[in-house]
Amino acid sequence: MSLQRPTEFNAEEIKLILLFDNTQKMGYSKKFLECEKIEKVYGNLVFGETPADRALTYACFVMSIDGKIAFEDSHLGPLIARTNFLDPSGAKADYWILNVLRGISDGIIIGSGTLVKELDYRGRIFDTDIVNARIKAGMPIAPWKIIVSNSGRRIPYEHRVFTDKEVPILINTSPEGFKNLEKEIIHPYVVIDYSDLSTVRSQVENNKGKIAVIITGSNGISDGHVLFKVLKAMGIERVLVEPPSYTHYLMGEGLLDEIFINTSAIFVGGKCASIGWNNEPFTSTNHPHAEVVSIHIHKSNFIYVRYKLRYGITNMASPKKYL
Ligand SMILES: NC(=O)c1ccc[n+]([C@@H]2O[C@H](COP(=O)([O-])OP(=O)(O)OC[C@H]3O[C@@H](n4cnc5c(N)ncnc54)[C@H](OP(=O)(O)O)[C@@H]3O)[C@@H](O)[C@H]2O)c1
Repeated sequence: MSLQRPTEFNAEEIKLILLFDNTQKMGYSKKFLECEKIEKVYGNLVFGETPADRALTYACFVMSIDGKIAFEDSHLGPLIARTNFLDPSGAKADYWILNVLRGISDGIIIGSGTLVKELDYRGRIFDTDIVNARIKAGMPIAPWKIIVSNSGRRIPYEHRVFTDKEVPILINTSPEGFKNLEKEIIHPYVVIDYSDLSTVRSQVENNKGKIAVIITGSNGISDGHVLFKVLKAMGIERVLVEPPSYTHYLMGEGLLDEIFINTSAIFVGGKCASIGWNNEPFTSTNHPHAEVVSIHIHKSNFIYVRYKLRYGITNMASPKKYL
């Protein structure tokens, strides 16, 4: 079995069985991409309303049954799916769902950590049926790549994502981070002035070919609320969030709308990475909740669960810490 990223997706092979569908009850009706293949493999992929003042956000991960997103002996996240030797087609379906979500998106957020660890990462859409559906819908061939870094340090500028001239790149960093970024960046860039949001789109258009840099927050910490407002002003309405640590951060800020968790029925154990393994954990009295939107299955080796995040839910009857 190949451990490389698949680039061809046969609809029959990756077809998923829908076990539970809550979309109608949740009032979801927005379809962002007309694509026969998505209908055939996944069914009706619909969403709720996009927030008025920021981009809609959703993350997607594959994890083991013990919640791990990478092995200790190899940090390549996709191996969690591809080393499930009982169901290689289910692993393809996992990667295909990521491709679908890239396909409906205007931007994807990438963490510098993933770029350092995944040298073959491209952030592209590898299913030609989805790419063709985007082109037919008048969308660009691939979404913007949005790199987040508080520190502005050690962004791997030699990585292949920076040599892919067809897909524009944006970096969001903090004021302190920008001082570091200025010293290390080796590609042409422009700092976007978003004091007047109505000018953001033209600044970007007038600087095609340069990396757009957005400085948000204060000191060494960037601000996701501001980032998503600026993205919306740029016309970026839907954003796929790929870095695990940033996903955790967004949940802490109430900024992540949905999360797609694909469970590969393997066990990893140990102290390997999970979503937010390096972040400050949530507490027993204050943590994000979620509602199941849908559940799909492939053979008996992969389950694909989609969740809508709910914030600010507390136990009103007993708002004390549990012992
Ligand atoms: N199984 C899966 O589905 C899956 C998916 C993706 C990744 N992975 C795996 O997860 C691992 C990578 O995880 P990771 O946590 O090390 O890396 P990461 O989340 O890809 O990137 C971490 C970097 O993102 C930046 N960042 C994080 N939170 C931020 C915030 N609030 N604001 C601005 N920047 C922020 C920080 O950059 P600075 O330090 O420069 O500030 C941080 O070092 C890899 O092993 C990868 O293969 C698995």
